[in-house]
Amino acid sequence: MDEKTLISTAKMLVAPGKGILAADESFNTIKRRFDAIRLESTEENRRAYREMLFTTPQAEKAISGVILYDETIHQKSKDGVPFPEVLNQKGILPGIKVDTGTVALAGFPGEKVTEGLDGLRDRLQAYRELGARFTKWRAVIAIGSNLPSQTCIETNAHILALYAALCQEADLVPIVEPEVLMDGDHDLQRCEEVTETTLRSVFAALTAQRVLLEGLLLKPNMVISGKDFPQQASVEEVAATTVRCLRRVVPAAVPGVVFLSGGQTPEQATAHLNAMNRMGGAPWELSFSYGRALQDPVLRAWDGKAANTEIAQRIFYHRSALNSAARQGKYTPWLEAEAS
Ligand code: 13P
Repeated sequence: MDEKTLISTAKMLVAPGKGILAADESFNTIKRRFDAIRLESTEENRRAYREMLFTTPQAEKAISGVILYDETIHQKSKDGVPFPEVLNQKGILPGIKVDTGTVALAGFPGEKVTEGLDGLRDRLQAYRELGARFTKWRAVIAIGSNLPSQTCIETNAHILALYAALCQEADLVPIVEPEVLMDGDHDLQRCEEVTETTLRSVFAALTAQRVLLEGLLLKPNMVISGKDFPQQASVEEVAATTVRCLRRVVPAAVPGVVFLSGGQTPEQATAHLNAMNRMGGAPWELSFSYGRALQDPVLRAWDGKAANTEIAQRIFYHRSALNSAARQGKYTPWLEAEAS
């Protein structure tokens, strides 16, 4: 493990004004996204879509890294340049999702555990050789009347920590993603309780596995009201509650917190990030690692047609720039209008 490499890569990923694009949708997920624009999920359509994103002019001003999927890290631009190299040429770090998805947790109806540890050491070497500098692993925690169980939280935390240790052994910065889902009719306070319990368990496990805290990034959910809770918390409440929760459990040695968007609209995800950065004084960088919140309007504008590349790229650049502004607490909703 080369501590210096890990620390400098982690810092680059949360450089001022920059954040991460999560473009690591699995086959099932990208099919769902393409279904929404009635586009068939073929290898070529997936390649063309990702090429449009990765070659967006000036994206590197706001994007420090891109998380790729196994298929994507092996693909090339239409000019024959491997995608990791396309990103490197722009000064964007290539990353890779290394979990293989979730399965039902035996004995715990409604709960899931993430798989992918088998053979991971060898896969990490292969990804390094393809140019990856960092990785991601997502665990999911559902809130329900008797959920989550302590077993589900601890099992996923332990696996996240084993994953992180293997990545650091290979000089790859692990992004540790324990996602507390927003599905449900629970209130903000319940989301805070579950998020706090989950993060406590994750950091206990990381410490037990001797993971270097300075050489990882945490990718949590924001603390928000359940999707079906009637009285949604305000932007300020979400920001204050999220930062309070993180302050209680995330060690200051961690260089950055890169939030997932998890089903928030692009505008909500940006406004929440902005409000947290406006508060100031956090011991870690507060940044983004958004999938849907960066891609949804871009995918709709692109619509599977090469002729729409330029407009889609302009929208992607604009959405990234707004989140870059939010990184600095300089976003205002009227900046949204410029997009149209
Ligand atoms: P969303 O921002 O769409 O939640 O995706 C982020 C991600 O990488 C989920 O694993």
